[in-house]
Amino acid sequence: MSEITKTPTLQTARLILRPLALTDAPAIQRHFNNWNIIQHLASVVPWPYPEDGAETFIARELEKVAAGEEIYNWMLVLRGGDGEAIGNIRFRPGSDDANGNRGFWLAEHYWNRGLMSEAVSAVNDFAFRTLGIESFYACNAATNVASRRVKQKTGAELVGYIELAHASALRSLSFGGQVVVWLLADDAAGSGGISFGQVL
Ligand SMILES: CC(C)(COP(=O)(O)OP(=O)(O)OC[C@H]1O[C@@H](n2cnc3c(N)ncnc32)[C@H](O)[C@@H]1OP(=O)(O)O)[C@@H](O)C(=O)NCCC(=O)NCCS
Repeated sequence: MSEITKTPTLQTARLILRPLALTDAPAIQRHFNNWNIIQHLASVVPWPYPEDGAETFIARELEKVAAGEEIYNWMLVLRGGDGEAIGNIRFRPGSDDANGNRGFWLAEHYWNRGLMSEAVSAVNDFAFRTLGIESFYACNAATNVASRRVKQKTGAELVGYIELAHASALRSLSFGGQVVVWLLADDAAGSGGISFGQVL
């Protein structure tokens, strides 16, 4: 396991991936508080999303990192934009959570422009090249076509399907309970023709 525990700033052609900070709470509250995003996520995410949902999430993340958990948590910011965070990637290489080692979301206004695939490629590169991780897992609800495409475009290999045992009844309606499991392995990094980001 790598000794690097601090989230580095990464950059891609269109994005800066910078570490999550308490000041991101308003942007997360604005963009993440959206059923079109949350319906695809694990049942641990509250819905309706509380008014202090973002603040609570960030504070918990920072506590976990301070307690020594290996969590990398990036906010996505458009290069040349106003600096507001528009998405998130969370990577926990050591986790054996049924939901996999990585999660992501992007503000709905920015969907289908290839932005998440670009950001995920940079994180894959960081995981494999900088941390030296050989492989990790990622999952998505079987119905989540966009997340599946991001994985396909960034070198993930389909492992199989599992039932999401802990899905709430509410989420089960949209998930159908089925989750696709993907393997990300070092030799797959870079496939899909997307150029990697840079560690700053
Ligand atoms: C998943 C998510 C991050 C993707 O972000 P994004 O920046 O739009 O992703 P990209 O543009 O890189 O790729 C999306 C791909 O899905 C495709 N897609 C999206 N909706 C689709 C649909 N209904 N049918 C077919 N393809 C679809 C897009 O066309 C694109 O593929 P392409 O480049 O081959 O055309 C974004 O949709 C999101 O935040 N969703 C809600 C949260 C979520 O699902 N997170 C992942 C949980 S596992």
